[in-house]
This record gives sequence, C-alpha cells and structure tokens, in this order.
Amino acid sequence: MKMRAAVLEEFGEPLKVQEVDLADPGPGEVLVRLVACGVCHTDLYTASGVDPSGYAPTVLGHEGAGIVEAIGEDVADLVVGDRVVTLFSPQCRECVHCLDPRTNLCLAIREQQNLGYLPDGTARLSRDGEPIRHFMGTSTFAEYTVMPQIALAKVNPEAQLDRACLFACGLSTGLGAAMHTAKVQPGATCVVFGAGMVGLGAVAGCRLQGAERIICVDLSDDRLELAKGQGATDVWKGGDDTVERILSETDGFGADYTFEATGNVNVMRQAVESARMGWGLATVAGVAGKGETLDVIPRFLITGRRVAGSSFGGVKGRDGVPALVDRYLAGDIDVDPFISHRISLGEVNKGFELMEAQDGIRSVIDFQ
Ligand SMILES: NC(=O)c1ccc[n+]([C@@H]2O[C@H](COP(=O)([O-])OP(=O)(O)OC[C@H]3O[C@@H](n4cnc5c(N)ncnc54)[C@H](O)[C@@H]3O)[C@@H](O)[C@H]2O)c1
Ligand SMILES: [Zn+2]
Ligand SMILES: [Zn+2]
Repeated sequence: MKMRAAVLEEFGEPLKVQEVDLADPGPGEVLVRLVACGVCHTDLYTASGVDPSGYAPTVLGHEGAGIVEAIGEDVADLVVGDRVVTLFSPQCRECVHCLDPRTNLCLAIREQQNLGYLPDGTARLSRDGEPIRHFMGTSTFAEYTVMPQIALAKVNPEAQLDRACLFACGLSTGLGAAMHTAKVQPGATCVVFGAGMVGLGAVAGCRLQGAERIICVDLSDDRLELAKGQGATDVWKGGDDTVERILSETDGFGADYTFEATGNVNVMRQAVESARMGWGLATVAGVAGKGETLDVIPRFLITGRRVAGSSFGGVKGRDGVPALVDRYLAGDIDVDPFISHRISLGEVNKGFELMEAQDGIRSVIDFQ
C-alpha cells in the first residue's frame, strides 16, 4: 500500500514527508493505522546524526498509538480493531529475560531491530523498490506501520489514543522507574532530577507508590510548576549545592530514592551522592552522551548506596503499558498537561524545533 511517512534522508537535514510503500504484514506481524504519535528526543537524536548507531534512510517515530487494521498469519493475541500502543521494547513472553521478573529487556528481536529490520531480517517499508529501514522497530511517523505482535500493547478501548501514545516511551519510563525499577516504598523521601516527560513520570510514580516527600529538581520554573501538578511536594532549582541541600533536609543522611532524568552525567553523580547512606537507591534513566562516564566515589557505595539503571522504566510492555493506561483511566495519572502542542504529520519538523526550544513537554502528531 501507499502511505505518507516522514523519512530521514540525511542526518542533520529536516525530515521529508512523502509517499512510501508499505508491504502487507507477514507471519506474526500486524498492520497498525496510527492515530497519534509523540515526538521524542530520541527521534531528534537520531535525525541529528549524533547517534552512533543511527542509519538513513529510515522512517523515524516510536511513540505511536493506533488501531489494528490487518493481521498476518499466526497472530493470536490481536484482532482487527484493537487499540494498541507501539513498543520499542517488546515482550515475547518466552525468552530468558521475559520469563524473569527482574528485567524487561526482551531478547527476541533485538539484533534485527537494532539493524532496522523486522524479525525476519527484511523491511516492509520501501520506495521505488528500494527498502527503507524501520526505526526502533516502530517507524510511527507514518500513517501506517507494520510491527511484530510482540511489540504491540493492547490497551483499553476507552483510552484516547493521543494520551495513550505518551505511554509508548517517556511517561512509562518515568512511572516505571519509580514503580518497577526502584519499587518506591510508602512513606519514602524521593528526589527526582529533571522535569521533562521522564522526570514528571517519575514524580507521578513516586506519588502512586505512596512516597511522603517528593522533591523535584530542574532548571526551568515552568517545568517545576508541572511537577507540582504531578505530586511533587517540593520543587527546587538545580545547582552545584543540590546535594548539600538534600543532605541538610534529611538529617544529613540523603533521600531513600533518587531518580536521574536529565541525561547529564554530573546530575547522575548528584543522584548517587544524595541517596541515603545505608539503603538509598539512585535510579538512572537519562541517556548520557557518547563516551561520557559516570564518576562515583566508591565510598558512597560501600556505605550502602546503590545504583540502578532503568530502560523503559523496567516495564514489560505488553503487560505493563495496559496496566499503566488503566491507572490513567482510573484518574490516577494526569496526562493532559504533558500534551503541549498538536501538530500534523507534515509539521513533524516543527515538533523538533519546539523540542529544541524546550517549548512544552510533548508535541503530539494527530493523524486524523
Ligand atoms: N531509559 C530510558 O528508557 C529512556 C526513555 C526515554 C528517555 N530517556 C532519557 O531520559 C532523559 C530525560 O528525557 P526527557 O524526555 O524527560 O528529557 P527533557 O530534555 O524533556 O528533560 C530533561 C530535563 O532535565 C532538566 N535538567 C537539565 N540539566 C539539569 C540539571 N543540571 N539539574 C536539574 N535538571 C536539569 C532540563 O531542564 C529538563 O527539564 C533523556 O536523557 C532521555 O534520553 C531514557
Ligand atoms: Zn521516546
Ligand atoms: Zn522476550
């Protein structure tokens, strides 16, 4: 079929929205009509050419939500009409990682996905007979996408898809960091560094876990205001003295849980140093620049602090995303403040510009 998609032709150049071909879903694959898609930093990171594993041409986009339009052979878990959220982090329910509750890093299709292909090693996207590679296994800056069924989370049909798409990446990452990776305990003191989509999700996750004190640290007043709306009890402007300030407000001990959602390695270090001696857990969700390292003085670890990394918030996508969407539908998560701009597919580059200007949290592409 023919469809419109935003193609990354050359790194550092704007995406070009154009007609491309999309082949039918193969065995185990599903055709999804996109209804909404968030524009995320990872798309921009790849488009800019900074990502060492990036490739072009490709159709970017990974925060998609849509409706199942057709299914290939051997698709047992989805039917036409189901509402789905796309998963760059799939859940096959069979591999050694899927069977273990300690991780969400499914091993089933990693290799081919990283190369830009569907699990059988080929692409469904093409132009004039030449294949175009898929991005993050999702390629949702497009009217349609073909994806393996193990990378689609079936969500409650009541959920509006322009909200549900936010659970495809940043929001679930933040919520999950608090709920799945750190497993924040009721009554805890938490510090969240960064109040973008991920940090705000972590604030909401700490609140849902019953944290007593949630300090959110950012550089932007507007974003700190949003953090209050998600349940932050204290909002602070970040700086070199943040660790000292956390220690002085916790009897010199530090916070039970800290979360890093900035991608800045100096802030990661602050997150480790402000975690409580004895049992404090620093959860790192931010993605650092290529070659950057985290500098931790071993004494901080010997005295009982721990560090955890979190990819997609430790959320096993097919089980965890529908559960989080249900919490949203139950009124537990206020999603609307995250949607700052609504744009068309043709305006996708504007979405990048808004993000670079740190204007709002998310631009959402509306395909209607
Ligand atoms: N682990 C995962 O699976 C995963 C998924 C999505 C995003 N990420 C990463 O998480 C990070 C956050 O993503 P986002 O979409 O929320 O980004 P964002 O850019 O919208 O938010 C980052 C926030 O950090 C704040 N910040 C910057 N420097 C700071 C400092 N010194 N002190 C305090 N705050 C500071 C900024 O003001 C901004 O509000 C990024 O690194 C992103 O790549 C990771
Ligand atoms: Zn993303
Ligand atoms: Zn798996």
